[in-house]
Amino acid sequence: MALHGIIGESRVDNPVTIVIFGATGDLTHRKLIPALFIAYAQGLLPSAFTIVGFARRDYDDETFRGMMGDSIKEFSRLPADEEAVARFVQHIRYHQGDISSFDAYADLKAKFDDTETYPENRLYYLSIIPSLFETAVEYLKTSGLVNNPGAEHWSRVVIEKPFGRDLASATALNAALLKYLDESQIYRIDHYLGKETVQNILSFRFANAIFEPVFNRSYVDHIQITAAETVGMEKGRGGYYDEYGALRDMVTNHLLQLLCLVTMEAPGDLSAESIRNEKVKVLNATSLDIREEISDAVCRGQYSGGTDKNGKPVKGYLQEERIDPSSKTETFAALRLSINNWRWADVPILLRTGKRMAKKTTEIAVQFKVPPLQLFQQVECEGDVCDITHIKPNTLIFQIQPNEGIFLQVGTKRPGMRFVVENVKMDFSYSGTWNKSLPEAYERLLLDALHGDSTLFTRSDEVEAEWRVIQPILDNLEKLKPYSYPPNAWGMPESNWLFHGVKGAWRNR
Ligand SMILES: NC(=O)c1ccc[n+]([C@@H]2O[C@H](COP(=O)([O-])OP(=O)(O)OC[C@H]3O[C@@H](n4cnc5c(N)ncnc54)[C@H](OP(=O)(O)O)[C@@H]3O)[C@@H](O)[C@H]2O)c1
Repeated sequence: MALHGIIGESRVDNPVTIVIFGATGDLTHRKLIPALFIAYAQGLLPSAFTIVGFARRDYDDETFRGMMGDSIKEFSRLPADEEAVARFVQHIRYHQGDISSFDAYADLKAKFDDTETYPENRLYYLSIIPSLFETAVEYLKTSGLVNNPGAEHWSRVVIEKPFGRDLASATALNAALLKYLDESQIYRIDHYLGKETVQNILSFRFANAIFEPVFNRSYVDHIQITAAETVGMEKGRGGYYDEYGALRDMVTNHLLQLLCLVTMEAPGDLSAESIRNEKVKVLNATSLDIREEISDAVCRGQYSGGTDKNGKPVKGYLQEERIDPSSKTETFAALRLSINNWRWADVPILLRTGKRMAKKTTEIAVQFKVPPLQLFQQVECEGDVCDITHIKPNTLIFQIQPNEGIFLQVGTKRPGMRFVVENVKMDFSYSGTWNKSLPEAYERLLLDALHGDSTLFTRSDEVEAEWRVIQPILDNLEKLKPYSYPPNAWGMPESNWLFHGVKGAWRNR
């Protein structure tokens, strides 16, 4: 199992053919091929493997290999040795064809008769627009490119996000895929789950005895999860983003996955099914914390034009390339949720994500209650000027990016004659503890898929449970018009309203 920790670092034993659908696209260049190269350079791929790039553009093998070699040199997280790159790209081939045409699959099947060049264990990676997922899976199956589960040679299909646009489309997509594949053959990717700190949430919670007893409504005041980006629309992403927005692009998958890991019950064991069962249970207990109006629990925003942190002028969302100038798509979303189970009842869970925010950061902050008696005063200083304030609660922070680590804020006595308390950080940072570059999420996830470990992939009922949480927002978008917020800020003041009745505020730092 992936979470046993070792398997991701062991070599894939069996020869394999990896077919990347959408091989001329951005994800293949920037992430997939560099990740496969690193796995190769570290000796983790089997000695016999072939990577087939599948797309419409008219390339031959040599041209495509040259392009992939350039992508590795540009995007590999580790220095890419020329000779190793040259050896690696010899494993790559190009298959030109249209994914929506059955003939392209028949041609691929004919090539696959040469089983020495194309080993019979097959991983199909669908790095394509979602509207092609169903067709691709149907033709893979009907052309005989996918074996049944339990066959001598395995077939697996990795599906990129987004998985649906709402509950109905996600359910329909699941049903369509399950007509041709078994659930055990489908690997729905959420690359957040491939990040080291995200996996560490589980080990932190369940490998240590001291935190778990206080992870509940008796000790935790609230939990806030933030995923903030400083960028606006990245080149070429406008069209896609305007159709999806922050809620669908970030909240439904990444933020709800973080919520699951920090709030789920301990699984009975570390098998993929046990972990995913616990995630589904907590998602099924989660809902918007609506008192009277849906706006009590949801706030949407759209960034306006202005200047970034370097004083450089930046466009507003509506002026960006490939964005409808009258678009109501949100670039910021904040939610207040509740988890209706014994552990978390009445503990507000606040999520937010946005573009053009003041800082790039992804973190989960678990804020504990303040001590019942205020024996001490707290001191807060800015330069030489210090203020006495009320004592601050402990906060446990899982910092997902950048500077991955786990931090605990505690009050300690400030040196001196007076008895005042100052907040300090007990910290564990990856870079300070291990002088080792962290694996990219895609390295981990590709290797897990090759090993047949689905722990870090999302199961069909899990995806549907995620959409069920968000669906009431999608049904009420008319009542939730986006507010405007300036660039280089933490969204807009209206999102503070979600903290009504909570002892705390967004951690804008
Ligand atoms: N890029 C990212 O950072 C990122 C991050 C997370 C998730 N994703 C997801 O990953 C997937 C791919 O994203 P991307 O950014 O790589 O997209 P992209 O740059 O637009 O690439 C799309 C690829 O699909 C191919 N394609 C399109 N229609 C085709 C057809 N009918 N037949 C054969 N090939 C076809 C295109 O090649 P030809 O034009 O040559 O056919 C191209 O290789 C999407 O689901 C996206 O949501 C991407």
